[in-house]
Amino acid sequence: MSLSELPKLELHLHLEGAAPPAFIRGLAKEKSVDLSGIFREDGSYAYRDFVHFLSVYEAATSVLKSPEDYARLVTAVLEESAAHGVVYCETFVSPDFCGGSDVGAWREYLHAMQDAADRAEAQHGIILRGIVTCIRHFGPEKAKASARCAAETAGDWITGFGIAGDEGQGKPRDFAYSFDMAREAGLRLTAHAGEWGGPQSVKDALDDLKVERIGHGVRAIEDLALVDRLAEDGITLEVCPGSNVTLGVYPKWDQHPIQKLRERGVKVTVSTDDPPFFHTTMTREYEELERAFGWGAADFHEISQTALAAAFCDEDTKAKIAKRLE
Ligand code: HPA
Ligand code: ZN
Repeated sequence: MSLSELPKLELHLHLEGAAPPAFIRGLAKEKSVDLSGIFREDGSYAYRDFVHFLSVYEAATSVLKSPEDYARLVTAVLEESAAHGVVYCETFVSPDFCGGSDVGAWREYLHAMQDAADRAEAQHGIILRGIVTCIRHFGPEKAKASARCAAETAGDWITGFGIAGDEGQGKPRDFAYSFDMAREAGLRLTAHAGEWGGPQSVKDALDDLKVERIGHGVRAIEDLALVDRLAEDGITLEVCPGSNVTLGVYPKWDQHPIQKLRERGVKVTVSTDDPPFFHTTMTREYEELERAFGWGAADFHEISQTALAAAFCDEDTKAKIAKRLE
């Protein structure tokens, strides 16, 4: 079986960040919005560094203005993911972008996304679940509004709550109230940390937000006691190596710590983060892991089983996915 056909699980994908540039350009044209500044001549997204990437991301997102736009986005993203063998995907969705955190408007966006996901599941066999995500640089008050939307719509499809955005702004404890609200609503928890922040940012996410997964978390490698804590506590890392290499967290694939973390007993999974922004796909992630660390079928199988165990979906859904991995 080729690497692209291998069945894959992806636990860390920003929905708007997965939008193909041509899709965003098409919407911009329909709505007469000038987005030429965010594209390079070759049609790819143009940004200088992580913080600029976040502003380009938000500019691209500004043309997604209705539930119907989000339904079309889900359709486009899942078609692409399925073509790379993804059988199960968890995507970050933000009420800040979908109705401005008004619960009624959020429900409409959510239903449109779920309908599109149901159609994609029927057509391509790919299963999607959503993790409501607050945005760190939008501040704690907006995070509370997102957590309220998450708590109101927690269920089979909205399975988790998380935090993304600029790790340089605010502290995890500023968001503890929102995470408590989400936890009380039965949602599973994850937080971006240890990508731009060092090991302390991972400790803060664990101690202050009490998450069971960390988005990235790779810079834990700078503190081996923390690495051992992650291993002992069974914390799963949503590792996005291509994102880290493209953004310069690590200069080269073979210097990425994913293999060292795994060898020391940490549960690692593999995701793309924002694939067109970082010129990656799940197939490319697998190809680079094969090239850099000699990973083969047994390694990829182990990664998929780790992702399945850490997935936020219910047990019936897990049983369905397990069959696809046999
Ligand atoms: N990291 C943090 N925040 C984000 C990202 C990301 O890759 N994409 C969109 N928001
Ligand atoms: Zn991310």
